[in-house]
Amino acid sequence: MPFLTEPCAEYKEQFIEGIREFQREGKQLHYDIQRISTDFEAFLRATREQQEHVRIGPNRVPTTEMWLIDGDEYIGYLALRHELNDFLLKVAGHIGYMIRPSKRRLGYGTEILRLGLEQAKKLGLPRALVTCDENNIGSKKVIEHNGGKLENAVEVEGATVRKLRYWIDLMEQENQTT
Ligand SMILES: CC(C)(COP(=O)(O)OP(=O)(O)OC[C@H]1O[C@@H](n2cnc3c(N)ncnc32)[C@H](O)[C@@H]1OP(=O)(O)O)[C@@H](O)C(=O)NCCC(=O)NCCS
Repeated sequence: MPFLTEPCAEYKEQFIEGIREFQREGKQLHYDIQRISTDFEAFLRATREQQEHVRIGPNRVPTTEMWLIDGDEYIGYLALRHELNDFLLKVAGHIGYMIRPSKRRLGYGTEILRLGLEQAKKLGLPRALVTCDENNIGSKKVIEHNGGKLENAVEVEGATVRKLRYWIDLMEQENQTT
């Protein structure tokens, strides 16, 4: 059964392999693999600090990063933003996720969001905003499979496609499962 974990040393090698895979498709380029593998503890510390208001910049919001693991394989990551600022409200939402290229179309995208919504509920959020590009069919389905209700499609400065903004009611989900 796949599960979410906070970044930890146990999956260091699998995580780095996953990042290499993302980078081969031109994603996650901000990760400096050389630096991360040399001092993984510093990387973990910096990741944890993103959750603390006092440690992050004024335009940033506390964010929990989590990894999806299946067996002992790193499958992908999820970022859970604890609150919304103007940019997140319009464009990026509460939850972002990414499945490594070799593990796509196996149901993991749907599963990572499902698990991320459980975390959002634990944070006390009554509903979560999740967004995707209008032409991202995979992500659109992932959101809709998790109960996303489309609010609107918005133009984003500098982008050629609109952003679809979905809300997922976390209270409703609770009622459905009980
Ligand atoms: C979008 C993404 C998370 C989907 O992950 P995934 O593991 O492939 O998702 P799932 O396997 O749960 O697929 C969900 C549905 O979307 C479909 N799907 C997935 N990728 C697709 C694609 N590229 N084109 C068409 N359909 C696609 C699946 O077939 C499945 O359809 P079904 O439910 O009708 O059977 C993954 O492609 C990814 O990480 N992409 C790059 C980053 C990204 O776009 N993140 C989302 C930002 S909003």
